[in-house]
Amino acid sequence: MTIKSLDTLLDEGVSGRRVLVRADLNVPFVKGSDPAEIADDGRIRAVLPTIVALRDAGAKVVVMSHLGRPKGAPDPAYTLKPVAERLGELLGSPISFATDTVGESAQAAVAGLADGQVALLENLRFNAGETSKDAGERGAFADQLAAFGDAYVDDAFGAVHRKHASVYDVPARLPHYAGGLVLREVEVLRTLTGDPARPYVVVLGGSKVSDKLAVIEALLPKVDRLLIGGGMCFTFLKAQGHEVGASLLQDEMVDTCRGLLERADGKILLPSDVVVADKFAADAATQTVSATEIPAGRLGLDIGPASVAEFADALSGAKTVFWNGPMGVFELAPFAAGTRGVAEAITKVDGLTVVGGGDSAAAVRALGIDESGFGHISTGGGASLEFLEGKDLPGIEALEQ
Ligand code: 3PG
Ligand code: MG
Repeated sequence: MTIKSLDTLLDEGVSGRRVLVRADLNVPFVKGSDPAEIADDGRIRAVLPTIVALRDAGAKVVVMSHLGRPKGAPDPAYTLKPVAERLGELLGSPISFATDTVGESAQAAVAGLADGQVALLENLRFNAGETSKDAGERGAFADQLAAFGDAYVDDAFGAVHRKHASVYDVPARLPHYAGGLVLREVEVLRTLTGDPARPYVVVLGGSKVSDKLAVIEALLPKVDRLLIGGGMCFTFLKAQGHEVGASLLQDEMVDTCRGLLERADGKILLPSDVVVADKFAADAATQTVSATEIPAGRLGLDIGPASVAEFADALSGAKTVFWNGPMGVFELAPFAAGTRGVAEAITKVDGLTVVGGGDSAAAVRALGIDESGFGHISTGGGASLEFLEGKDLPGIEALEQ
């Protein structure tokens, strides 16, 4: 099945037409900031080329997105207003912001658009129809959204794994096209699931094994090495019979991890040392210990320097690398070295390097690592993982219809 691209839509001509753009503007905010301050605007920048191309071609551009996980009703904690301001700054002129999704404000904003102007609707998840499991409820919301456009462009790669009204049901109602971001993401990820150049090394981190289980199962037969850090490494260390002190542990996953280690045939590499602390805080007393001798009561919050060196060594000859998930609590300075060290090792790889995900991509930028050192930085965490798991992605399916 072929997917029609934004270029096709531009060739067909958009001047004076209303184009609905589904973007993933679900950006992180600085914790506790008031007024809310965007911590990383990478996702806004990533969709900019699509919005600019449509605007410059004279379309009336109606952008829509979710932010966070509000419960199907308006919630000021999840307003897209700060995102509208940032988007306006990046576009070089203010955009119009609707204070609802399909109500009076949205209708007025769309009706008031001149050719080449941009509007952003309020958080789609303020309407229960967006995420509903009931196709009728989703469809009713999709009808209202679709009424705002003459064509639909999906450039929300980070949300293509969600069977949501704006992702799955709106494209069924309008001529639909994939934006450049979605197309590029799919192309790169297809390389990873197809025939990647070897050695193919995957680095996984993040807190929960349960979130990564499906991707580990799918990747194990395909990769040459699987390096595991982050909070999830402690459940693997426990499965090897080591005590992990007060570190994060998913007890119910220990047996599963033992089974994975047995089947992995030595492909899985775990940290040999970890940075432990007496508390989860930037001013904690820290210590580097062997991963097999974590003292009782201590929390492992990062991989240690020996592990970074071993991971870097495993990465050095790689021809394809996929990385998802931080190696430690990189937001706190004493626990950032593991993520920084592994990220820097990946930038030195001579081959295709892909950073998967919201969190890992944000970590790269937060640590000030040069983004150009990576082959591709995905805007989708869950979406890229589900792609690698081989799952059908509703948003991509809808574009193929
Ligand atoms: C993300 O940040 O992973 C995407 O924006 C999707 O958000 P969700 O996991 O809340 O659906
Ligand atoms: Mg997510």
